[in-house]
Amino acid sequence: MTKDSKQKLSPMTVSLHWLVAVVFITLIVVGVYMEENEVFFLYPIHKSIGILLFSVILIRVIWRIKNGWTQPVSQYKKIEQIGAKTIHWMLIIGTVMMPISGMLMSGAGGHGLHIFGLELLPSNPDEWNLGKVMPLNKSLAGLGHTLHELGGKIMIFSITLHIIGALKHHFIDKDSTLHRMLGKK
Ligand code: HEM
Ligand code: HEM
Repeated sequence: MTKDSKQKLSPMTVSLHWLVAVVFITLIVVGVYMEENEVFFLYPIHKSIGILLFSVILIRVIWRIKNGWTQPVSQYKKIEQIGAKTIHWMLIIGTVMMPISGMLMSGAGGHGLHIFGLELLPSNPDEWNLGKVMPLNKSLAGLGHTLHELGGKIMIFSITLHIIGALKHHFIDKDSTLHRMLGKK
């Protein structure tokens, strides 16, 4: 399979980047909206898409390990290079942690895991409280919840810096960083 070069990124890198980016940002927006407004019909949709995206995220991580990181298009100041690399690491780790913490919160919380009705882990109904569920492990569910909430905030911050960086390359440095991530030479 074609690997990334300094001049051109592989179709695999470009398509995985944009697929994960668009769906991930959508899940953040939907997640915050449904949680703040208690829009319960969105929960199973958010969870199903999150679990499906997790498989794409894992393929992307394997691809990064096989291919290595993309090289900067030209020589930048050391501080800029360290900043960009740190954010790339935070983004890759965050894309893995968000679905894992979500599944931990729902699975250990007794809600089960489902992809659009396909059962991966059954829910744990509370016999004494019809329509409610019993947590399988309260502390693990709590840990998942905390990580998901905190992770969401950290990811919003990191993605914002990442987008500002991409726009700076494009409009101020006027280099090919953004063009290259769009599959162009
Ligand atoms: C509109 C939103 C976005 C824009 C404009 C954008 C733009 C870019 C650009 C231009 C690069 C190439 C940087 C380089 O060559 O050094 C890049 C790389 C990267 N982006 Fe984004 N990005 C966006 C959203 C996201 C999101 C939401 C994530 C993760 C949640 C993400 C994760 C990454 C990672 C990990 C890299 C390193 C290369 C790779 O692994 O593919 N990006 N992005
Ligand atoms: C890439 C994947 C995902 C992203 C980016 C994401 C993002 C978010 C965000 C930002 C929130 C709002 C958190 C807050 O402000 O408190 C949220 C809520 C939530 N997410 Fe996710 N999520 C993802 C995957 C999942 C998965 C796989 C599950 C479960 C299987 C899940 C279950 C939930 C639940 C149950 C809530 C609501 C929590 C509450 O009501 O307190 N998420 N998600």
